[in-house]
Amino acid sequence: MPARKTSVRKPAVKPAALAVEQLTRPQAKAELVRLALEIDAHDKRYYQDDAPTISDAAYDGLRRRSDAIEARFPDLLTAASPSQRIGAQPAGRFAKVRHAVPMLSLGNAFSDEDVADFVERVRRFLKLDAEEAPAVVAEPKIDGLSLSLRYEGGELVTAATRGDGFEGEDVTANVRTIDDIPGHLKGRDVPRVCEIRGEVYMTTRDFLELNRKQAEAGEQVFANPRNSAAGSLRQKDPSVTASRPLKFFAYAWGEMSEMPETTQFKMVHWIARTGFVTNPRMKLCASVEEILAYYRDIESRRASLGYDIDGVVYKVDRLDLQQRLGFVSRSPRWAIAHKFAAERATTVMNGIDIQVGRTGALTPVARLEPVTVGGVVVANATLHNEDYIKGIGSDGEPIRGGVDIRVGDTVVVQRAGDVIPQIVEVVLDKRPKHTKAYVFPATCPACGSRAVREEGEAVRRCAGALICPAQAVERLKHFVSRNAFDIEGFGDKQVQEFFDAGLVKSDADIFTLEQRDARSSKKLVDREGYGTVSVRNLFAAINERRRIELHRLIFALGIRHVGEGNAKLLARHYGTIEHFIEAMRAAGKGHDSEAFQDLDAIEGIGDVVAEAVVEFFAEPRNRKALDELLAEIEVLPAQQARRDTPVAGKTVVFTGSLTRFTRDEAKAMAERLGAKVAGSVSKKTDYVVAGDSAGSKLDKARELGVSVLTEDEWLDLVG
Ligand code: IVH
Repeated sequence: MPARKTSVRKPAVKPAALAVEQLTRPQAKAELVRLALEIDAHDKRYYQDDAPTISDAAYDGLRRRSDAIEARFPDLLTAASPSQRIGAQPAGRFAKVRHAVPMLSLGNAFSDEDVADFVERVRRFLKLDAEEAPAVVAEPKIDGLSLSLRYEGGELVTAATRGDGFEGEDVTANVRTIDDIPGHLKGRDVPRVCEIRGEVYMTTRDFLELNRKQAEAGEQVFANPRNSAAGSLRQKDPSVTASRPLKFFAYAWGEMSEMPETTQFKMVHWIARTGFVTNPRMKLCASVEEILAYYRDIESRRASLGYDIDGVVYKVDRLDLQQRLGFVSRSPRWAIAHKFAAERATTVMNGIDIQVGRTGALTPVARLEPVTVGGVVVANATLHNEDYIKGIGSDGEPIRGGVDIRVGDTVVVQRAGDVIPQIVEVVLDKRPKHTKAYVFPATCPACGSRAVREEGEAVRRCAGALICPAQAVERLKHFVSRNAFDIEGFGDKQVQEFFDAGLVKSDADIFTLEQRDARSSKKLVDREGYGTVSVRNLFAAINERRRIELHRLIFALGIRHVGEGNAKLLARHYGTIEHFIEAMRAAGKGHDSEAFQDLDAIEGIGDVVAEAVVEFFAEPRNRKALDELLAEIEVLPAQQARRDTPVAGKTVVFTGSLTRFTRDEAKAMAERLGAKVAGSVSKKTDYVVAGDSAGSKLDKARELGVSVLTEDEWLDLVG
């Protein structure tokens, strides 16, 4: 649809994103929510869908900003914070396996200085002298997929993916087909329980060959070896995995009933003796200089290693020191990943397309002259938003030296093992004469409505929420997506097709499709690409989802800022759809209403989310659409908290750095046992569980006479 010309009353002026030091508390709170949602979505794309959409560098940037804001406002840290999580929930196709020892993530270093800081931090923590550098093992960081392999009595019993770090997917049957992974461990004194961990990967050559075969057979081709390894491992049929050339490097361990060695280096050699392949390039380094020389050496060999690596990992060698160093939330203090700069290529930007998302956000996408970057042909790159094109970063600071991107520019594109690359540089010398700065559209290209940029927002949004076809289609795609209604055989393609045909315009239309089809003279079976069986299957799949869990429904509604996590919090709090709707209507009466206060007080639900939910229900057309949907489906009540445990009904606050479990885990455990987890201490608090260096919350608890427990005492209490 051509864009309708509408005049904008006043140009929306957005204050450039502020430096962390300049943020006020409410701004910080709102931004943490936004960052958590964004990081969440990227985690899901990376871990569950094997289809990331931003570069690792951009992702790391988001996390760094979130960490920096949390460091400035520690009390804004919540269990939903990305710093308290490791990756996304497992995808749900395989049985779940709880890791006996969590599978943690690594902190990142991006420069020589960061590496020196790491060694210095270790030294300070261990109170070593300035000249005393602890020996460090350096090894390539394999760009694959981590696995935990449990051996009991020397026999492989379970193989699990990392998942969210605590619970992964059971891929034992598939893993048994991988040659590099022994079915039983060699050696006489193998401990009773051994969990060996490492990385599944695919060599570059095998990846290219597999893609060639897949393309020839008209099957799925993968974007890179990592996705290919992940896709090959998570097959329903182990014989498919067996046909894929998967390899494995062992480099770590989880639960061990006994430790055969006392250093990292010796442990990895011991693991090799039990029958595993370990990386021959692992090296013991004695100083920062040696570490950095190793890094440069590996970097220079990167292209000829034959497999993808995205950096180098450093680990303190002595295991007793590792033990003393322990962990900070999601990563060990005794190890760090030194990342490589991403791969780059130069090309020309031929144009900018604007895509309209579910919430009306207008996202510019660069159309590039196709170029090969790191073995992948790149034809487009994300441009994020208006400021990004102008050369302004999300923190308000100049990016690319403050240079804007213009159609016709020669640009440097960067990708790092992901799908949508970034433009990191404009080659100004090659800028054609008479180019003009790009003017971001002030109207929606899909419906012609005004595209408005609100204060404090980087994105411009189409204001035609209810008339914009692009938004409607994106909303429907979200509605049927995997973590929402998850209707088999009803994906993006079908949404677009049925929408264009006028068959499905609203959520409820999906559930009335069969009935309407029965009465229609133009039946679905007569459409191209459909037959009796596929139509029958489609209706069966739709009918199967007429009973839906409350949290899925809430997520499916596509309310701004309500991702899966918040949907679960809301579902758990309100229990039933009737109660939820009633409460949201009451909350719409104003911020002073009891219902709004109750919503805002839910742990993990901040002001931004609360506002968004209330706003959604304040729109009569949304309520009408929901009523129509509810006439077609049955919403199952959320699981109610248990009442038969010592902490049922109690309010608990976790504070300080926890070592036995992460905040997320602690919170999930407490909630499973029927306790309510709060973010701040008040007279209503029953227990404060305090980890190391607990601060003001602990003081407050003492002041109010609230019971303070150590982590162990908490575990004793809950049994
Ligand atoms: S050590 C407690 N060593 O990188 C830390 N990880 O960003 C255990 N990875 O989840 C990890 N190569 O999947 C370690 N040589 C290596 C690695 C490696 C790749 C992955 C691993 C981990 C991720 C963290």
